[in-house]
Amino acid sequence: MVVMTYTPTHTPVLLEESLRYLAVRPDGRYIDCTTGLGGHSEAIAARLGGGQLLCIDQDGEALEFARARLAPFGRRVSFAHGNFRELASIARDAGFSSADGILMDLGVSSLQFGDARRGFMFGQDGPLDMRMDTRSGGLTAAEIVNEFDETSLANLFYEYGEERQSRRIAAAVVRARPLRTTWELAKAVEQAVGGARGRTLIHPATKVFLALRIRVNGELDSLDAGLPQAHSLLGLDPDGEGGRLVVIAFHSLEDRIVKTYLKQESTQCLCPPELPVCRCHHVATLRLIERHAVKPSASEVAGNPRARSAVLRAAKRVA
Ligand SMILES: C[S@@+](CC[C@H](N)C(=O)[O-])C[C@H]1O[C@@H](n2cnc3c(N)ncnc32)[C@H](O)[C@@H]1O
Repeated sequence: MVVMTYTPTHTPVLLEESLRYLAVRPDGRYIDCTTGLGGHSEAIAARLGGGQLLCIDQDGEALEFARARLAPFGRRVSFAHGNFRELASIARDAGFSSADGILMDLGVSSLQFGDARRGFMFGQDGPLDMRMDTRSGGLTAAEIVNEFDETSLANLFYEYGEERQSRRIAAAVVRARPLRTTWELAKAVEQAVGGARGRTLIHPATKVFLALRIRVNGELDSLDAGLPQAHSLLGLDPDGEGGRLVVIAFHSLEDRIVKTYLKQESTQCLCPPELPVCRCHHVATLRLIERHAVKPSASEVAGNPRARSAVLRAAKRVA
């Protein structure tokens, strides 16, 4: 049973665009790899007739919330608690040998951001945890900030947070140990580099928190592993109509992985241009539905500031 200390709300990002690019068919089979609070899933399920939707999330609490929300759709919707880096086996166990559409709405849900106990945000004080899957037994943010050496911390903040003051912050973190809570970490960063930055007054710990979250959850590795599995699951009808993959990313590192993967798989030959004859024999099995990244409208961002950094890419199977 889910015991929540508040009622989470989450406005699905780029919802209309996701539905358009998924082109949901009433009899189709769909997989939401990042169900969260079920906003996108609910809209997909509402368009199904005899079709099926498999809802996956690595966060058991989110999945229970979505299960209750999507209960009115009955057996059209099924659920799996897991990480999409194991998408092929999760789908197989759920009876999905292929899919007409797969959605990945990456990152963190408002359930995770809004709950101080999960330690994702410095807006409220909480334990430095940041695990999306609390049963994973993986490293917590506290273990990383208290146990990694200074150089490893600096590299982490630089690589995953693109934080230019990574060395100075890493030194301050090491000096301030032990750090147990989000506020303690935010304060250590603030002391190292000063207060809010830029015109938008971004908190100086924002990039450090992002870097830790990416590392704690192995987010980039999961995406690297999950994309080819999603690709392989996309069906191809005898009439040539292929399954669709829609991915929404929220920071440049994950969008780069998505962009590179989709570009590669929608390119017929990957040989260097100076080779006169193709030697790689790579076949384009995807086609980009939109050549460029799709971003939320100004009105969506005004109504849902979380959408600000969203970037959607979509492709369909063609061979
Ligand atoms: C942005 S939220 C999704 C929100 C959802 N589309 C909605 O409308 O409510 C992202 C969700 O993806 C989950 N998630 C992130 N990475 C995952 C992964 N590798 N495997 C499974 N779930 C993941 C998170 O736990 C979180 O619940």
